[in-house]
Order: sequence, then C-alpha cells, then structure tokens
Amino acid sequence: MKILITAGPTREPLDPVRYLTNRSSGKMGYALAQAACAEGHEVTLISGPVSLPVLEGVQRISVETARQMFEAVQREIVGKDVAIFSAAVADYRPALIADQKIKKTGETLTLILEKTEDILGSARSVFGFTGYLVGFAAETEKLLTHAQEKMRRKGCDLLIANDVSQPGIGFDSGENEVTLCLPDAAPFSLPRQAKTALARELIAFISQQAVLKNST
Ligand code: PMT
Repeated sequence: MKILITAGPTREPLDPVRYLTNRSSGKMGYALAQAACAEGHEVTLISGPVSLPVLEGVQRISVETARQMFEAVQREIVGKDVAIFSAAVADYRPALIADQKIKKTGETLTLILEKTEDILGSARSVFGFTGYLVGFAAETEKLLTHAQEKMRRKGCDLLIANDVSQPGIGFDSGENEVTLCLPDAAPFSLPRQAKTALARELIAFISQQAVLKNST
C-alpha cells in the first residue's frame, strides 16, 4: 500500500530568531514509517523539524510550519491508500511575524495568535481523501471523550488516543501507550511498550483494517 505519515512538531516563527513549537520529537511517526517500510509498504513521511536520521527506503519531505505541512500533505495525499497523522501540529501561529528581532521594551509582551490550517480535518473535506484515515489525539484530560469527538468530527477510520499527562510516554519519550478508537467498535488499549514495537502493532492493525475497508 501507499502510506502517507506526518511526524514531529511544527515551528511557527515569531521573529527572525524565535518560534513557537511543542515537545514532539518525531519518534512515534518515524517508528511508524520504519515499521510500514519494513512491511513492504511505499512510505512518504512528511516531517517537521526533528533530529532523527533519514530512514532508508522512506521518502522524507521536510517542512517547518503548519502551513508548509498542510501544502505538502495536500500534494502528497493524492493516490495514497492510508494516511496517518501523528504530527503535533501547532493549532495557532503568530498573526504577524516581525521582520526584526522583537526588542525587550516593556514589562509584558502580548502576542496575537491566529488559527493554523487543520490538516487532518481537511483530509476528507478539502483534499477529498477516500482512503483509510488515521488521526492521533494528544490529551491531558477526558482522553476517550475528546478522542472520540475528534474521530467523528475529522472523519477518521481510526483515532489513536495518547494520554500525554502520563510520565514516560507520549511526547519525547522512547515508549508509548495508546487507546484505539473506532467508529463502530469499542475502544481498546495497547500496553506501554517501546514506540518501535508499538508502531509494528499499529501498522499490522492499520493495514488489515485498510484492506477490509477497500474490499467493502
Ligand atoms: O513525536 P513524539 O515525541 O514521538 O510524540 C508522539 C506524539 C505524542 C506527538 C504522538 O503520539 C501524538 O499524540 N500526536 C498527535 C499530537 C497532536 O497534536 O494531537 P492533537 O490532539 O492536537 O491533534 C489531533 C490530530 O489532528 C492529530 O492527528 C494531529 O496530527 C492533527 N492536527 C492537529 C492540528 C492541526 N492544525 N492539524 C492537524 O492535522
């Protein structure tokens, strides 16, 4: 199958030397890309700025901002059988990017932020993607409620819920533990394990489900 995966954080510039970002390392997305490639799938990895090496056999497209990730996904999702959105995309960016370094003139500094493009939310409605769509949800409270709401709102076939309030899993760690939410079945959890091992389980499940979807 042809699989598109997004990974890592985005960086939203504030001025020539500063940006807003988050703690995503890219490890989860890169582990998924490696596992999919090892299973013989053709993988395109759209990656935010991370310090992980290029994966042999995987086509990597590097981006920085949410807008660049949106444009890359819009271009690359065409003809894909599966799309997996594991990137931690900024929800807001500075409305104005200063041309020069912002000077320390006041006691406080107020930033005005504007919404970024919702890339996963655009997969069905804007990009017209009809393949198997997998989203992630990073939550610190009401994990299942928020994840299931995102799954329905964004038209996902599978939503992988990540409780990022737990120490040692989620952002920037070697291990993860997730709950899989499906539109027509009860959610179930995969236990805490190395992201590489978890990725192999996820890819096996996703490819099986994608084949089922395509045959109906
Ligand atoms: O990179 P690691 O350090 O290995 O950490 C892995 C991870 C914690 C980042 C990963 O497992 C994870 O949970 N990724 C989703 C992070 C996230 O931003 O979740 P969210 O609930 O804010 O977003 C929901 C979904 O919409 C995600 O699939 C996200 O990729 C997508 N999204 C979000 C905002 C946006 N503007 N566009 C999007 O496509």
